[in-house]
Amino acid sequence: MRIIKTDSYEKMSAVAASIIGAQIVIKPSSVLGLATGSSPIGTYQDLIKGYNDGVYDFSHIKTINLDEYVGISGENENSYRYFMNDNLFNHVNIDKANTFVPDGMAADKAAECERYENLAGSLGYADLQLLGIGQNGHIGFNEPLDYFPLKVHEVGLTESTIQANSRLFDDESQVPRTAITMGIGTIMQAKRILLIAGADKKDIIKEALYGKITPQVPASVLQLHRNTTVVVVDE
Ligand code: F6R
Repeated sequence: MRIIKTDSYEKMSAVAASIIGAQIVIKPSSVLGLATGSSPIGTYQDLIKGYNDGVYDFSHIKTINLDEYVGISGENENSYRYFMNDNLFNHVNIDKANTFVPDGMAADKAAECERYENLAGSLGYADLQLLGIGQNGHIGFNEPLDYFPLKVHEVGLTESTIQANSRLFDDESQVPRTAITMGIGTIMQAKRILLIAGADKKDIIKEALYGKITPQVPASVLQLHRNTTVVVVDE
């Protein structure tokens, strides 16, 4: 595991974008596993800048996102599909047909989970998977549990995650209570993993990277991945 320390959110974002950018340059048909949330916004802005500067070409890139809320459609501005369009896809030359996010409105959630897992497999899983981390160590929406869920599944959000995510909704009651997420196994299939964490994640990063490997701290499983880079803000 490589750990890169930076001293600001801007530098963390620039480093992360240059790692993803290098992946795009080296393999223009890469499958990028992507995340939403506050952590990757600066990274996406830097990727857009690289695209505008003519450095990155997304025309052959495919993306597969980690997760999506259940019960809100892609047109809802709180959905992760909307977030991705708004923060990245609408600003680069990616073919939206090559961008994948779970369908939170699917009538049959179990079938949607199976479809998404098979989709990840048929793409050969991510060449590079970008991750953020929750204050409780979650990755994707894999919350602390007594086992590591392997595949794409529907998950109930913990109270702490609902509260953390409520900042983006009008009020807490509107935060969906379940989501569809890649499993830990789906994430671990990625050839490379890039975890980014701001200064507010210092304690959980320490626990996840240097503590016991346990499903109570889902990100701790990354200690077992053979090609993980972590970019942190360590002021
Ligand atoms: C988002 C995701 C989550 C976030 C995590 C950190 O797609 O899967 O695991 O990465 O909750 O969120 P932020 O970056 O908002 O602190």
